[in-house]
Amino acid sequence: MDLLDSPCLNKGTAFTDGERTALGLHGLLPPQVETLDQQVVRAYEAYRRKTEDLERHIYLRALQDTNEVLFYRLLLDHMEEMTPVVYTPVVAQGCQEFCHIYRRPRGLFIPYPLRDSIRQLLTHRPHPEVDVIVVTDGERILGIGDQGVGGLGIPIGKLSLYTLIGGIRPDRTLPIVLDVGTDNEARLRDPEYLGWRHERVRGQDYDEFIEQFVRAVREELPGTLLQWEDFGIAHARPILDAYRDRLLTFNDDIQGTGAVVLGTVLSALQVTGVPLTEQRVVIFGAGAAGVGVADTLRSAMVQDGLDESVARERFWLVNRGGVVHADRSDLREEQRTYAHPWESVAPFARSDRHRVTLAETVEGVRPTLLIGLSTVPGAFDEPLVREMARHVERPVIFPLSNPTTKSEAAPDDLLEWSDGRAVIATGSPYAPVPFRGREVPIAQCNNVYVFPALGLGVIAGRARRVTDGMFLTAARTLAEESPTVRDPNGPLLPLISDLRRVAVEIAVAVGLEAQRTGHAPLTSPEELRQRVVATQWTPAYPVYAGM
Ligand code: NAI
Repeated sequence: MDLLDSPCLNKGTAFTDGERTALGLHGLLPPQVETLDQQVVRAYEAYRRKTEDLERHIYLRALQDTNEVLFYRLLLDHMEEMTPVVYTPVVAQGCQEFCHIYRRPRGLFIPYPLRDSIRQLLTHRPHPEVDVIVVTDGERILGIGDQGVGGLGIPIGKLSLYTLIGGIRPDRTLPIVLDVGTDNEARLRDPEYLGWRHERVRGQDYDEFIEQFVRAVREELPGTLLQWEDFGIAHARPILDAYRDRLLTFNDDIQGTGAVVLGTVLSALQVTGVPLTEQRVVIFGAGAAGVGVADTLRSAMVQDGLDESVARERFWLVNRGGVVHADRSDLREEQRTYAHPWESVAPFARSDRHRVTLAETVEGVRPTLLIGLSTVPGAFDEPLVREMARHVERPVIFPLSNPTTKSEAAPDDLLEWSDGRAVIATGSPYAPVPFRGREVPIAQCNNVYVFPALGLGVIAGRARRVTDGMFLTAARTLAEESPTVRDPNGPLLPLISDLRRVAVEIAVAVGLEAQRTGHAPLTSPEELRQRVVATQWTPAYPVYAGM
């Protein structure tokens, strides 16, 4: 029974006659012996019987906790269909309902009251060897805010993609939730809430808890890749800054987002033919994502030869207070980097200097690239898009706010208002848009294109640190693998079903970059590639020895 209860070892009806005899399984399984292919057919049938997304999510999670090989084979065979169910957008519901759909333990819960025994908790991990940890404190889950302990759904989902796309062995991944309480009233009032019933720990106590956690990870699992996920804005960057030089770590919301947007922009520029160093960029929304994206694009411009200060001047950020300029007193440090002197803004400012609008900015700057990370639905309206398209032959427009209800524009409108000239990627998924006799594919700019591949490169390449340079390399490789290299009418990003292959290319490039900068032991490129390929696990049943 232990074998049948162990998701990493279980083969279910695929245990052979010989295995059943040797392992004492006769009688515990129905007499038919099946192949993995046959099991996939049955599992897919069961999946199709579910009528709601949350039910599909629960089914897949239960399968994952019963038989991991079957779970990943099913996912591999139906990648386009099932990725959104194990991860965004459906995982959001999985987190909200976490305590109501909870069945079996997966990952580690580290509650604040047990802060003095974190190392001990880490020794309770289900498998001894760990390549990658994804950790959250549940404070800013996707666009749905504080979910407390329910946030664990995100590390579980992300690690599923590490395995599905990056090929990291499932028994070498570890999801963790740091349960520091929740300020979500509904969760605190819910009699079924499973987390620590307490308001969020903040300030110095919080910082010390994080420090205790990091110290325990370094002692117990040195060299393991640690990915921070969905922390609140007040903690995300300080944690990254505090630990990025002390261990193998990164923050996907900050670094992963920047890289996937850069990769998609570079792919779009393959269509427009205008190099990155000649772009004028307007970003609507100067929050965590907006500033992070500006930082990454700017680094890539500098890498391509632009002077640091010239590159900075190419960016115009607009937020609630209007365009970002030096006379504003409401700017945060990281926003101030992009503050233009008022004299540069004045020529196109028609209204109050405290609120120079997006429309005025687009008119004045004539951007080649317009990115939305504002959560303001419909902000890219018809006059704005027509104005931009008047000055640019192929305007690149990315409404990236999620979910769909927050999108700055719908792709069909963007095509209509630009006479089909706009080059588009979105944050949320959209079906291909029929436009004047052709189907225009719409790329969804999602972090899944980068983090599993980067992780594969870091793990197989035995890197000791994760650097911004590795993210730039990942982004550039992603663009080189984009269908637009061969076909300007193709989608800006690879097909989901092609992602395992693309992940190998990104991983090799990331591994070489780590070696180039002295962050990984040197190998030949061929040896590195062999290691990457050998690391990438494919779901198949083991044959138990001697049977
Ligand atoms: P945030 O809250 O840190 O930033 C939002 C920004 O938009 C702020 O600068 C705010 O001033 C501005 N804003 C809000 N309302 C405005 C208004 N009425 N007029 C002008 N500016 C306004 O949020 P964050 O984390 O930066 O995320 C923003 C959006 O980007 C979200 O919808 C998120 O889902 C999406 N996103 C998409 C990603 C992707 O496509 N891969 C990755 C990361 C975020």
